[in-house]
Amino acid sequence: MKKIIIDCDPGIDDSLAIMLALNSPEVEVLGITVVAGNSPVELGFDNAKRILSFLGRLDVPVYVGADRPREREYVNALDTHGEDGLGESFLPKVEGQEIPEESAVSFMRRTLKSGDVSVVALGPLTNLAELIDEDRDAFLSIKRLVSMGGNFRSHGNCSPVAEYNYWEDPHSARVVFETLFENHRKLEMVGLDVTRQIVLTPKILLSMKKINPKVGEFVEKITDFYFKFHWEWEHIRGCVINDPLAVAQFIDPDILKGFEAYTDVEIGGISMGQTVVDSMGFYRKESNAVIYTEVDKRAFWEMFLTRLLKVKPKEIETVLKEIN
Ligand code: RIB
Ligand code: CA
Repeated sequence: MKKIIIDCDPGIDDSLAIMLALNSPEVEVLGITVVAGNSPVELGFDNAKRILSFLGRLDVPVYVGADRPREREYVNALDTHGEDGLGESFLPKVEGQEIPEESAVSFMRRTLKSGDVSVVALGPLTNLAELIDEDRDAFLSIKRLVSMGGNFRSHGNCSPVAEYNYWEDPHSARVVFETLFENHRKLEMVGLDVTRQIVLTPKILLSMKKINPKVGEFVEKITDFYFKFHWEWEHIRGCVINDPLAVAQFIDPDILKGFEAYTDVEIGGISMGQTVVDSMGFYRKESNAVIYTEVDKRAFWEMFLTRLLKVKPKEIETVLKEIN
């Protein structure tokens, strides 16, 4: 089993990503670290516990990290994820689950030292930048770093050119990309170019409810608000579920295709948070990122649906046929 830490800001799609990871036999989730992003960090902690409780996996430890970005003012995304950060499902708080004394960065430091642990980052990179500040070697011990964030040719979702995770904390994103460059390492950037192709539609959700009512109804409960948001703002009938694709790519590296490039993050001005991807090599710098641009949608949905619904591929064949 591949050992991972999920660093996230639950968040509706973060929650679906946690559900995929904990239904996947290939990965062992050593812990979840929460960062301020979609939700304020303590709400994100509570939401992670709500998801773990639904999955019967409260054995997975959850740690609290940064409560604000490295330099900017904190801007949440509750307009997208609902006032409870979980689609206004208003699930009850899980009792007896206190915030641990140990911080997210401390947990990361001691866990990553083995060199056999990867990180799937689904929120702003604030915790990872703090880890670099405190223990660069621990950060460089990360086996694989897969980050949902950024964009290459796809338009932004927080400005014409910036994606939320890197827009909310561009300084931390730059620290991470720079540190990787300085140490001849790369992260795998699962950006909007590929995640926008992963749309949970009403039809897929209906099939989920028919195949596994318990899971399907839970997913409906936490995504209903998200459906309405997408229709109102992007006139999409469905919702783009970004974060599960990063988990899927970690599990099956063939789901996404892309290219290596030197990438930096703009930290100010009109294009703050933009990932500047040097696909043509203008800067003549060694690449520090794999930028994904193509996705095998059928492979993603087969993985996502069979694992969340706990069924074999043949039982979702009718749904997969509709995936174009
Ligand atoms: O821009 C989409 C990303 O920002 C997703 O990870 C979403 O959960 C938010 O964190
Ligand atoms: Ca997220």
